[in-house]
Amino acid sequence: MTRRKQHVPWKAAGTASESEHSADDVVRETGWVFNNRVGGHLNLAEFVATGDHETAAYLQTFGLLGPELEQQTLVEIGSGIGRMTAGFTRMFPRVIACDLDAAFLERCRETVANFGKPERLQTSHVVDGRTLALADDCADLVFSYITFQHCHRDDALFLAREAARVTKTGGHIALNFRTWVPQDVVLWPAGKLVRSAWRLPRIGPFIAQRRLPARLGWQANRLAPSEVVQSLSPTLTDIRIFRSPKRRPFGIAGTTDCTFEGVHRSHWWLVAEVR
Ligand SMILES: C[S@@+](CC[C@H](N)C(=O)[O-])C[C@H]1O[C@@H](n2cnc3c(N)ncnc32)[C@H](O)[C@@H]1O
Repeated sequence: MTRRKQHVPWKAAGTASESEHSADDVVRETGWVFNNRVGGHLNLAEFVATGDHETAAYLQTFGLLGPELEQQTLVEIGSGIGRMTAGFTRMFPRVIACDLDAAFLERCRETVANFGKPERLQTSHVVDGRTLALADDCADLVFSYITFQHCHRDDALFLAREAARVTKTGGHIALNFRTWVPQDVVLWPAGKLVRSAWRLPRIGPFIAQRRLPARLGWQANRLAPSEVVQSLSPTLTDIRIFRSPKRRPFGIAGTTDCTFEGVHRSHWWLVAEVR
């Protein structure tokens, strides 16, 4: 069994995905863990379309969408079953999809085979939830969306440093984090309770696959931009922090404050060039 409570719902969803017969069934049964949509009408094509829309919007906003992509290698941390990965393989000649759960990576290959370019895809299992089994300087861009918030705090910071390690000098990282909002007065203690319950015999495995408790428990950390920037700044330059226009600037010295409507109020992005 994995040593981190935070891994429980992902392993549970990964295992559940293995017993589904078709890729559409996987989306209907476990797709909500990626894009929060439920219903018997869901299918893989629509699921991938949500990823296509978001990847293009974020890369465009970050100034990372240009003809140079056609020569680049992208590393995606927390690919899941390939909601965004399929689109990435249409943009980048080489994509390395990394995830904590090996069953998700199998499904990711299937998604890319159906909606992307499978010959461009490599997968990499993040066995311990923090170390990328990739060489230094292998990527032009490391991208991660709604994944760091699900890691143990130390693992999220370690993974962020891993992202910088595997990126070439002059390449970029674009990493999404979650920070504090007023509702956390309730959400944070409730989440801690759920995470403790995941370890209980019988009850734990049952609630790990239930949407409401999973959503409460799986946001396993809150990281402010100052904490992440402090940990990574020696390796980065041109650091931009993207936030929702609905919240105040974070005011971190040495960084550029940017806003984008598409950023959730509780989220922020670290976009930077690697030295
Ligand atoms: C909410 S899903 C997001 C997937 C994808 N980025 C998307 O937007 O569809 C979070 C993903 O992160 C993975 N994950 C969670 N903790 C992780 C860790 N410590 N290391 C790597 N992947 C992790 C999960 O298995 C899951 O696939």
